[in-house]
Amino acid sequence: MEKDTAPASTNTSVMDVLFTEKCDIEILDATKSISDFMDDKIKERHSVDSEVPFFVANLDDLFQKHIRWLRNLPRVKPFYAVKCNSTPAVIRVLRILGTGFDCASKGEIELALSLGATPDQIIYAHTTKPQSHIKYACTRGVDMMTFDSEEELLKVSACHTKAKLVLRISVDDSKSAVRLNQKFGAKLSKVEKLLERCKELDLEVMGVSFHVGSGCTDSSAYRQAIEDARHVFDTAILLGFQMRLLDIGGGFPGNEDFHIQFDEFSEVISEALDEFFPADSGVQVIAEPGRYYVESAFTLAVNVFAKKVVMDDVTEIRGADSDTVMMYYISDGVYGSINCLLNDPAHTNVAPYLHRVVDSSERRYQSIIWGPTCDSLDRVTDTYWMPEVHVGDWLLIDNMGAYSVSVSSDFNGFDKAHVYPVLSAHTWNMNVSHS
Ligand SMILES: Cc1ncc(COP(=O)(O)O)c(C=O)c1O
Repeated sequence: MEKDTAPASTNTSVMDVLFTEKCDIEILDATKSISDFMDDKIKERHSVDSEVPFFVANLDDLFQKHIRWLRNLPRVKPFYAVKCNSTPAVIRVLRILGTGFDCASKGEIELALSLGATPDQIIYAHTTKPQSHIKYACTRGVDMMTFDSEEELLKVSACHTKAKLVLRISVDDSKSAVRLNQKFGAKLSKVEKLLERCKELDLEVMGVSFHVGSGCTDSSAYRQAIEDARHVFDTAILLGFQMRLLDIGGGFPGNEDFHIQFDEFSEVISEALDEFFPADSGVQVIAEPGRYYVESAFTLAVNVFAKKVVMDDVTEIRGADSDTVMMYYISDGVYGSINCLLNDPAHTNVAPYLHRVVDSSERRYQSIIWGPTCDSLDRVTDTYWMPEVHVGDWLLIDNMGAYSVSVSSDFNGFDKAHVYPVLSAHTWNMNVSHS
């Protein structure tokens, strides 16, 4: 295939890199769209009588997200949070794009390294680590790691004396749906004592990190956190540390439906960086985006394998306000890929729609969609209006890439969704530059 002439590139194409790795990415030529691919997979499922759910992962979307990141936050190097979705094709593509990786355990470090990341591209971003995982990081040369307590320092000083430590501070997350700062982060009042302890233990502190929480509805939380980090930098510098890294964490929205756009967050962050960590300060700025990169890239396809039409006793159904309520049972649910409904308050808009073409004149029914398991908590929609669906139909759900694949279980013996990563031929032929 002929290669595109893409801007600012070396001679390495996406194809050159991925070919050698024999990965499972399907390449769509110009005549085939993602929705054609989705149709083919549904036909394949029908032909073998399979209801097993699946994801189509549009890897081109990762490229678009990365371009937007570089445009909006050129000073901030993203270290993708592997926990969010550790599908190998995702990690491979992000590695090609030049992101680093936020790993939270030995397993995630192993995965990132096995997929080509180098130790210096990894931050071990968990403040409370099992000792054996710290030892593993040490043997693999992963030095950059976060901490927020004296106990952690003692472990690090016993297992990894070359660690380059990043002090995670507790920041205001009161405007976020997922709040992390009760569990993680040192209070500002404790910072000086902790830094002094690092000196006593002869440990190197290189930076400060924070996480404002996910589903953040107030962009000024980042500004305040960056200002707080500046104070910690000043304290650490007075104590003699060579502070050179600021890590602004994750929490950036992964789809356009979120009520604050990425553009607003990035504008606030850029202004705060210019004020508290200007470009000539010599401080490298990184972030740990998870959902930002993967949420919109994944569409989930689920099979409707059972149906009940409720007409007589609708009043007994929670939230029913029509004479007919449809109940559908689908092949994935809150214990599988749609676990965000239980586990991720930052992701609430799960909106299934029919795979077939729907006529605008079709009657809509109040529909309750249940997941496949025996548990009554396994409820995907409540008072949701949609055209009539039949057993054997497939429903699609967009924006399902974050904390879905990685948290999913096979509770009750139902198969987990398979992931089909796809890339357009255009992107496959693109040249990429490496930093
Ligand atoms: C330390 C850390 N970094 C990054 C992330 C990623 O957050 P998000 O997916 O909202 O960007 C998380 C999520 O819990 C986290 O705990």
